[in-house]
Amino acid sequence: MNLKGLILSGGTGTRLRPITHTSAKQLVPVANKPVLFYGIEALRDAGIKDIGIIVGDTAAEIEEAAGDGSRWGVKITYISQEAPLGLAHAVLTAEQFLGNDSFIMYLGDNLLRDGISDLVESFVKNGPEALILLQEVPNPEAYGVAECRDGAVVQLVEKPKSPKGNLALVGIYMFTPAIHECTRAIKPSARGELEITDAIQCLIDKGKRVEPHIVQGWWKDTGKLEDMLEANRLILDSLEGDIQGAVLDSEIHGRVIIEAGASVSNCTVRGPVIIGKRAVVHDSYIGPYTSIDCEVEIRNSEIEHSIILAQSKVIDLHGRMEGSLVGKNVRILRLDHKPQAYRFMVGDNSWIGIV
Ligand code: G1P
Repeated sequence: MNLKGLILSGGTGTRLRPITHTSAKQLVPVANKPVLFYGIEALRDAGIKDIGIIVGDTAAEIEEAAGDGSRWGVKITYISQEAPLGLAHAVLTAEQFLGNDSFIMYLGDNLLRDGISDLVESFVKNGPEALILLQEVPNPEAYGVAECRDGAVVQLVEKPKSPKGNLALVGIYMFTPAIHECTRAIKPSARGELEITDAIQCLIDKGKRVEPHIVQGWWKDTGKLEDMLEANRLILDSLEGDIQGAVLDSEIHGRVIIEAGASVSNCTVRGPVIIGKRAVVHDSYIGPYTSIDCEVEIRNSEIEHSIILAQSKVIDLHGRMEGSLVGKNVRILRLDHKPQAYRFMVGDNSWIGIV
């Protein structure tokens, strides 16, 4: 069976504003690597070489970051979606690319600890029309929800107000070409989108076999700040320490990655932590679950459980920063001139918590 990959990387990322005002949500780094790259790697590891990426307004940025795929040994084809009109609309848009092949659809902001290789194998072996991944969640109303009976899917509903059960649809799906008839047949949902959840329901209604798999390892949809930080924590937890950069007069505890060209001096770093290329960290405490991206500068500050994107500076912060996502090229500084006042230049939809 020839299998293709289809990664969805359009969408506007409203729940991650203001970061997504200037950057695609799929490119926000988790442990210093864009979320999207984890999806490409999962498909590659499952033996998929031909990957289509659906792009929207942020096409240029996504193409620049992922290129032609040769760095992963895969071929990437970019497919432009005129507007984010739903996941099933993305499949319609990709029909020409997909041809008569079965495919794995992967939402570009989803992360799955155990990858998909075993699931792809069972999809190929068992030959259902669709294979869906499910996981129990505490807030099923935020997802597509599956009702299962005796190991079979009975009904799928997108973001139900009163969910029947707590099994959410993970954003990774496997389809045979039978799905196309259904993506063409369904009508837009209340939120005005062609839902893949409805297209899969259409397969069920036609009596086609839709195989559910409960995901045991962790799964994260990184659409919101808390989920992003949680994904960062989970990924950092799985990394080994590796110190390439310069360390001077510092205490390094636990698993810490310090990339080449970074310099850490007079600091306490308590892993798991990653400090990116050419970052400068001085006179500071960096606590567990912190990702500091390349060329960031941190002086005389304390940071824990946070993600700091490239080229930002955090200098002379008196209180400890935690649970924060700081965008690219942001400056958080202490001013020493009078008047002693807070001064902000903050983008739309930002938020700041002070003590
Ligand atoms: C989408 C799907 C939903 C699924 C979720 C997984 O939701 O519509 O069924 O559970 O991805 O990440 P959205 O991210 O568009 O709200």
